[in-house]
Amino acid sequence: MLKVTAKVLVCAVSMGLAGFANADEPIVIKFSHVVAEHTPKGQGALMFKKLAEERLPGKVKVEVYPNSSLFGDGKEMEALLLGDVQLIAPSLAKFEHYSKPIQIFDLPFLFDDMAAVDRFQKGPVGQELLTSMEDKGITGLGYWHNGLKQLSANKALHVPKDARGLKFRVQASAVLDEQFKALRANPRKMSFAEVYQGLQTGVVNGAENPYSNIYSQKLYEVQKYITESNHGLLDYMVITNTSFWNGLPEDVRTELANIMDEVTTEVNLHAEELNQRDKQSIIESGKSEIITLTKEQRDEWREQVKPVWKKFEKEIGPERIAAAEAANQQ
Ligand code: LMR
Repeated sequence: MLKVTAKVLVCAVSMGLAGFANADEPIVIKFSHVVAEHTPKGQGALMFKKLAEERLPGKVKVEVYPNSSLFGDGKEMEALLLGDVQLIAPSLAKFEHYSKPIQIFDLPFLFDDMAAVDRFQKGPVGQELLTSMEDKGITGLGYWHNGLKQLSANKALHVPKDARGLKFRVQASAVLDEQFKALRANPRKMSFAEVYQGLQTGVVNGAENPYSNIYSQKLYEVQKYITESNHGLLDYMVITNTSFWNGLPEDVRTELANIMDEVTTEVNLHAEELNQRDKQSIIESGKSEIITLTKEQRDEWREQVKPVWKKFEKEIGPERIAAAEAANQQ
């Protein structure tokens, strides 16, 4: 488990104080992530690099490391705090050791659609969560969408009881763990880079992902069925090391913040399109059957997992959950 150790915190602070010694050399910003380039996050990272190097020539150099090639999801947060990487964009499921309220984004069936997610993230609670980890050395720069998750398995999942006894890969999230327990299935925490192999070898029988991850990781090759459940969210928070960020020359920081806002708008505008394109490619591959749920079936899934909300209500804050629900009704 990731813990913010004293050593990590000391390094994080001293890093910022070290400043940027040689003004002639560009500031190197390493952006590490775990997905493929043709995904919302992969595209966002590349766009950030392009704009930053175009608008801050000679001042900034951005190195993008996709596909867990520099750090996997188990290590990237610690690497950020140690200053080994300056930008990462973990899924919102991966913050529970740093901020309990961010667990809100994992609650199953919380948001009706991505427009509601957008409203909530842009609203006061979403914005407050971006700065909720500054005392731990983490600054949130924005939310990037991937999209809503679909269940996949080697068995057709129409109603909750179909998932009983199956082993599902989950991200390192207590909420997602409880979600599968509520279905009487067996959750297994596993890093993203290991999911394909885990499914292929039968260590797990199922998973939950947006279409862009199912397609780009080739999970549809090792999953016979995908149930279009849209039961939960997989979005990201782009984060940086607070000391690094505050230690940047002011003009550079301001320009990078503007670029990040611009990239965030673009990513969020096109994420759904990318997911739909990948859904289409999965259909055309003929390797995995997409199951559509009736309204009644989807209601059954919702009822089965809804008790999970109660378990986390105190840690998340009931007023935040109410704000998220209100975002559905606008
Ligand atoms: C996962 O572990 O399933 C996701 O967080 C991967 C990602 O970054 O989209």
